[in-house]
Amino acid sequence: MSGSAAFLDAVESRRTSYALTAKSTLSDNDLKALVERAVKHTPSAFNSQSGRVVIITGQRHQQLWDATYDAYKKTLSGNTQQEEFFRNKIDSQYKSGYGTILFYEDQAVLNAMSAKNPALAQAFPIWSENSTGMLQYIVWTALAKEGLGASLQHYAAYSPEIQTVVSVGLDLPAAWKCTAMMPFGVPSAGPREKEFQPIEDRVKTIFSA
Ligand SMILES: Cc1cc2nc3c(=O)[nH]c(=O)nc-3n(C[C@H](O)[C@H](O)[C@H](O)COP(=O)(O)O)c2cc1C
Repeated sequence: MSGSAAFLDAVESRRTSYALTAKSTLSDNDLKALVERAVKHTPSAFNSQSGRVVIITGQRHQQLWDATYDAYKKTLSGNTQQEEFFRNKIDSQYKSGYGTILFYEDQAVLNAMSAKNPALAQAFPIWSENSTGMLQYIVWTALAKEGLGASLQHYAAYSPEIQTVVSVGLDLPAAWKCTAMMPFGVPSAGPREKEFQPIEDRVKTIFSA
């Protein structure tokens, strides 16, 4: 089974990393090339290629997390304990990183696919989420192989305002919907302990001649 070993080692090495520093192991050009390669080769339903990505670093990345906090705060109903908790979380786990990779799905592409295949119209949004998840995963794992920690955040799904706020100033088509934000950087600590359920409860086999 040697053909898949390197790939599965990479799968195993990807973890959620919250202890991020503002450093990168990759040059910005290499980071761009890594993301471009992932975007190009991630599968999508009917090869619709609806995935989109924006990479932001430095001050622009920090502004993203400040703006996300400001918008998220409005959903906390003035609960100052929660406000403080999320301010600390956002500052120490996301804003502290080198940059953020923003994942989008182009709704214009999906709407066109639905119009062309009305019988499948309900499936395209689900396949779109599947595909963006695959893209996120490929980028996340590739970053891990480059010694970069990252986590997967979904604040854009919490409120329409946050969905808008995360793209302010990025000059993106209105049809690009943010599906996830991935803060990343050189980690300053290892990942948390992770528990695994018994694998025999999760995988069944019927090897039949
Ligand atoms: C679909 C999906 C959504 C997730 N959403 C979040 C999230 O919003 N915030 C977060 O901190 N982690 C999020 N995670 C990360 C999981 O909590 C994490 O992958 C899981 O606990 C296993 O830990 P590991 O990534 O270190 O293997 C998400 C993961 C997946 C696959």
